[in-house]
Amino acid sequence: MSRAGSWVAVCRVADIPRLGARRVDRSAFEPGPEVAVFRADDDTVFALVDRCPHKGGPLSQGIVFGRSVACPLHNWTISLEDGLARAPDVGCAARFRVKLDGDLVLLDADELRTVGVAAAAAEA
Ligand code: FES
Repeated sequence: MSRAGSWVAVCRVADIPRLGARRVDRSAFEPGPEVAVFRADDDTVFALVDRCPHKGGPLSQGIVFGRSVACPLHNWTISLEDGLARAPDVGCAARFRVKLDGDLVLLDADELRTVGVAAAAAEA
């Protein structure tokens, strides 16, 4: 990871399979659930905590379609745009802001230190 201001380059868009995901280890910032960085078919990049709001399944291993991901454990559909589970399921995977600098995918360092960390600690 390289840092530019409060934004941190975590990978390149090309490192993420189209309609797939890549896990980002954020242990350099704060112990907490890893981050799943997704690439939609139009190359839009999204980032969510890599824990399904149902029972913690690894969203990075799910099936990406449109702007959603299907959790690999019990097939809940989670929106990549806001992390919300699609009704009738209820829950939310914490979302990270994403910025692109050319082909570089940047995440906010403050969010890497905080987003989803308290919830994961409460579950432990
Ligand atoms: S853990 Fe994701 S649907 Fe159950």
